[in-house]
Amino acid sequence: MSDSLLQCTGLTMHFGGLAALSDMSLHINKGEVLGLVGPNGSGKTTFFNVVSGIYKPTCGTVIFDGKDITSESPQAVYNHGISRTFQLSRLCLELSVFDNIMIGNHKRLSRGFISNIFSRRKFNEEYEDGLKRATHILTALNPELANRMFDVVSELPMIDRRRIEICRALISKPKLLFLDEPSAGMTHEETRQLMDEILNMGSYAKGLSIVLIEHEMNVIKRVTDRCVVFNFGQKLFEGTYSEVIADPAVQEAYLGKEVE
Ligand SMILES: Nc1ncnc2c1ncn2[C@@H]1O[C@H](COP(=O)(O)OP(=O)(O)OP(=O)(O)O)[C@@H](O)[C@H]1O
Ligand SMILES: [Mg+2]
Repeated sequence: MSDSLLQCTGLTMHFGGLAALSDMSLHINKGEVLGLVGPNGSGKTTFFNVVSGIYKPTCGTVIFDGKDITSESPQAVYNHGISRTFQLSRLCLELSVFDNIMIGNHKRLSRGFISNIFSRRKFNEEYEDGLKRATHILTALNPELANRMFDVVSELPMIDRRRIEICRALISKPKLLFLDEPSAGMTHEETRQLMDEILNMGSYAKGLSIVLIEHEMNVIKRVTDRCVVFNFGQKLFEGTYSEVIADPAVQEAYLGKEVE
C-alpha cells in the first residue's frame, strides 16, 4: 500500500516459554491514528518495545518508510523517525520542563560534553536553538505550560507532566509517535483534552501517524481512525471503533464468556 508508513509482518517475541507477541502482522498508514486495545498482558507494550528496538524480535520484520529496521538499536529507530512515550512516566522530576524536553533533542546536538566545555559559543548557539524549538512546540501544544518552561516538574500536575513527555517525544519531529496509555493517572476529561491538544498541534500534527495504546474506550472512539485488538499476543480483530465494539470475539476477550 503506497500510504503505508509502518509494516510489521509475523512479529513474534518469546520471553522464555512465554509468547508475548505471536505472528503479529499490522500496518500503519501515513497520517493515521491507530488504536491498540486488548486486555492486560496481551502484548501491546511489547509491540512498542520490539518496533522501537528495545527487544529484538524472535522472528518477523519491521519495515518503516520503505526501510527494513528490524532489530535496529533504539537510537537508530529514533533517528529513522519513530518516537514514543512510556507507560510509566520517565521524567526527571527535579529538573525543569525545558531540561526534560531537551533530553529528547539529542539527535540535533552536534557536540558532546567535553567539546561543549571548550567551546562556549557553539554550546550557547545550540542552547538558544533548543530553547526556541522547545518553546515553539510547547506553545503549539499548550501555551500556558510554555510560560512555565523553567518550573521544576515535581511542582506540576499529571496532565502537564504528560504534556512534557509528549513534547519531548515530538521535538525530534518524528513521522510516527507511539503513546503508551497516556490516560494513566488522569481523568477521562483530562485524557480527552490532551488528545485534542495533540491532534490540534498544527504543523507538528500534520502528517504525523500516531499509535495509541489505551484502555479508555471513549478516547479510542473519539480519536482513532482504526483499531487493532490484541489478545494473548495475537491479533484478535481489526476495524473501526464501531466494528470493534460490535465484535463477539472482542466482547468475549474483555468480558469473558457468558455462563450458560
Ligand atoms: N521483559 C520481559 N520479560 C518477561 N516477560 C515479559 C517482559 N515484558 C513483557 N513480558 C510479558 O509479556 C506479556 C505481555 O506484556 P505487555 O507488557 O506487552 O502487555 P500489555 O498488553 O502492554 O499489558 P498492560 O495493558 O497491562 O500494559 C505479559 O505476560 C508480560 O508479563
Ligand atoms: Mg502495557
